[in-house]
Formats: sequence, structure tokens, C-alpha cells
Amino acid sequence: MTPIQECIRNKNNKVSPIWIMRQAGRYLSEFREIRKKNPDFIKLCLNENIVPEITLQPLKRFNFDAAIIFSDILIVPYGLGQDVTFSKGFGPKLGKINIDEISKVKPIEFTDRVQSVYKAIQITSKNDLLKNKDLIGFVGAPWTLLVYMINKISPKNNLKENFFEDKILIKELIQVVKNFIKIHIDQQIKSGSTIIQIFDSWAGLLNEKDLNEYVYEPTKEIVNHIKSLDTTVICFPRGIKNYKEFVNYVKPNAVNIDYEVDPKEILGKIDIPIQGGMDPKILLSDKDHLKKESIKYLEIFKDHPYIFNLGHGILPETKPEMVSYLVDIVKNYK
Ligand code: CP3
Repeated sequence: MTPIQECIRNKNNKVSPIWIMRQAGRYLSEFREIRKKNPDFIKLCLNENIVPEITLQPLKRFNFDAAIIFSDILIVPYGLGQDVTFSKGFGPKLGKINIDEISKVKPIEFTDRVQSVYKAIQITSKNDLLKNKDLIGFVGAPWTLLVYMINKISPKNNLKENFFEDKILIKELIQVVKNFIKIHIDQQIKSGSTIIQIFDSWAGLLNEKDLNEYVYEPTKEIVNHIKSLDTTVICFPRGIKNYKEFVNYVKPNAVNIDYEVDPKEILGKIDIPIQGGMDPKILLSDKDHLKKESIKYLEIFKDHPYIFNLGHGILPETKPEMVSYLVDIVKNYK
């Protein structure tokens, strides 16, 4: 069994495996090199010749225990026919949404449009660099995809007042999105992903009264689907106030905590394997501070199955040298 599966499935707390969200990305010069030549981000995500190379870039540099397929959660709206573009320094922009057309999309039309993601997973999974390591596939949670598809751009700190105005649209859209998330997961697993992580980056935007309908229920459905395929599932409901309630309701195999969560406090509350937590900004400081902060997480979780990761994606300004240092600390602990 791989170190991460050993931790999650067997609740092994002897060592902490490590990988990092956005580990294939702009903090690596070799990624920026490729990105410069490929200005269209979605096209790059759909290039099965380059995606395996980008996915494996961090594993060539660091002793991570997993690769995460280089792709994006917005590949699902793209596969459903919604326009998705990225402009520099702004983030994603999505096009108009036509619910009648989206409701008519057939699974085969969707999988044809995003086929290269699955081909890239097949190619990557055969690489020797992944020996005894996991290849993580992923999806956006229904709620976070709904946010992007309706809001069209990243929300800042809150939703527009009229977000929930068109109740019929929201109800229909969440059904369609759930179905295609499942299809996207099935194909990633068939192609060689050994773990699925569900990113709910905007879970923290919801009022408590709406969590059940938009986060707990739909995510639980996806989690149950993944479990029925005997595949490991990690959830990341970023910004949620009550991780305990989330875990009790949704029951993923492991949960990634964000950097606002107090690790000591969560330890007493959650009994499933925990991943992540450290603020990505710590990697922008100095080695002494990084050592102190990473050891803090390792100490707190020393008797709990714990996968080292961050409380959100690694920042583009991070020096790769700091990542090497972090991996050494984690690997030499205990
Ligand atoms: O290494 C990995 O983690 C795998 C690849 C990955 C990307 N996006 C590549 C990417 C993963 C797992 C994602 C998930 C993703 N995408 C999320 C959930 C995680 C989170 O950050 O909350 C979200 C919300 C998105 C949507 C998205 N994609 C946004 C908001 C942005 C722009 C933000 C930014 O950092 O510029 C992206 C672009 C994106 N996705 C980049 C990468 C490497 C940067 C694109 C570039 O090179 O310009």
C-alpha cells in the first residue's frame, strides 16, 4: 500500500506522507516556461502530451508521496459547453449559461470534450516516478462549481445579493453538475487515479442554514459514489466553520483543513485522518520559521493519521528551496 493509503485506509500514524495543493504550478520555473508557450490555460489542461510532464515536475524535484493531475475544477463547466477563459492576474471568466442546453448534454459529449484529461491520467499513472505513490484525481464540489457557473468570476468575500434569485436554475443546475461530477470521477478512476479530492473552495461563503442543501447533501452523494467504487476520497470544504459537523455528515475518508482551523482544537473533535492546515504564507518566510510551524503541525498530529499539506494552494511567489526544506523536515520527523 502507498504511504497515503496506509495513512488513510489503515489509520497508520507512524509517518506523515506529504504532497502540496497546487504543487504543479507557477512557483516552479519549469512550469512557467511551459506556461509562457501555452497562453490558453484550458487548452493546456487538455494537452495530453504536456499534462503528464507538468504533473510530474514536482516529483522530479521533491520527494512527495503523490502527484495530482494537472487540470482544473472548471474543466467540468467547460465540458458542459460553458465558455471558460483565464486572463492573467484576474482568474477565471465563464460565459453565459443556458440551462436548457446544459440539461441536454449527453455523457458521451462531455467525455469527448474532456477526453484528453483521461488520456493524460493514463499516461501519467504508468510513469516510474509514481512507484508506490498515489495519483490524485479531483473535482470541484457541486456548490463551488455552481458558484463559478452562476457568478462567472471568482467571488471575493461574499456572493452577489441576487445569487439565489433564480431558484429553478439553481435546482436544475445542481442536479446536472452532480451527474457530470460523478462521470468525471468515474473516468479519472478508470484511467488510473487512486484517490479523489473534492475541492469546495467556496463552502465558507454560505450561511449555516444553507449548508445542508448546498454543501452537505450534494457532497455526501459524491462521496458515497466514490466509496462505492472502492476509491479513497478526501474532502476540502475550505472556510467552513464546523468541520466536525461536516465530517460527521459527509463521512469522507480524510479531510483537508484550511489555515484558519486551530489544529489543536480540531484534533479532539475529528476522528478521521486529517490532511493539511499550514498557512501557505509560512513558505514565504524563513527556514527557522518554516521549521517551527511545520513541526508544530507534526507534533500536534503525531498520534493521529496525518498527511502533511497546506491550508490552501502553494503561492506562486514560493521559493522551491523552501519546499525542499519542508519535505526534509516532514520526512525526517520521528
Ligand atoms: O497542482 C495541483 O494542485 C493540480 C492542479 C490544480 C489547478 N487548479 C491548476 C491551476 C487544481 C487541483 C486546481 C483546483 C482549482 N481550480 C480550485 C480549487 C482549489 C482552490 O484553489 O481553491 C479552484 C477554485 C480553481 C479555479 C481556478 N483555477 C482559479 C480561481 C484560478 C486562478 C487563480 C490563480 O491562482 O491564478 C485557476 C487557475 C489555475 N489552476 C492555475 C493552476 C496552476 C494558475 C494558472 C496560471 O498558470 O496562470
